[in-house]
Amino acid sequence: MAFETERLILRPWEEWDAEECYKYAKDPRVGPAAGWPVHTDIENTRQVIREILMVPETYAMVLKETGLPVGSISLHFHSDLARKDDECELGYWIGVPLWGQGLVPEASRELLRHAFEDLGKARVWCCYHKGNEKSKRVQEKLGFK
Ligand SMILES: CC(C)(COP(=O)(O)OP(=O)(O)OC[C@H]1O[C@@H](n2cnc3c(N)ncnc32)[C@H](O)[C@@H]1OP(=O)(O)O)[C@@H](O)C(=O)NCCC(=O)NCCS
Repeated sequence: MAFETERLILRPWEEWDAEECYKYAKDPRVGPAAGWPVHTDIENTRQVIREILMVPETYAMVLKETGLPVGSISLHFHSDLARKDDECELGYWIGVPLWGQGLVPEASRELLRHAFEDLGKARVWCCYHKGNEKSKRVQEKLGFK
């Protein structure tokens, strides 16, 4: 399954995305803020793609302009926050060079639509680590309470 927004395609991750993904995931400003360790090399990224990202409802955010993945967005079921069947949790990250263009809010709006309309969820959760003002802003803009 894939989705399209104005500037993005959201589609499942593939192992051959490793090189692009590593470019962004090796930056210490990305992973730790989202709760995962900095990627150490391309093989590490390939393993993460295989074992963590290639699951249902996790999507590579691909820039239409270049056709290349620049971040990831997902709906998690039965996470720490989403404990009931009619709930899920939204998670996201995007590479530093792409920050500040509203791309994550754009992708999130489509995934929220998908969660409520297609999957019939009643509630979507989202969280950020204390001090992550950028993610807090995203959630404010999306209307999370
Ligand atoms: C949080 C994150 C997903 C935001 O994505 P984004 O597509 O840049 O979102 P936006 O463009 O809406 O920017 C959100 C806020 O980040 C801040 N920001 C934007 N560009 C920035 C930059 N280059 N440097 C520092 N802060 C910046 C601004 O406060 C902005 O809010 P504003 O729209 O009111 O100005 C992204 O910064 C990221 O991936 N961070 C690391 C991983 C992470 O924190 N994931 C979320 C875990 S809960």
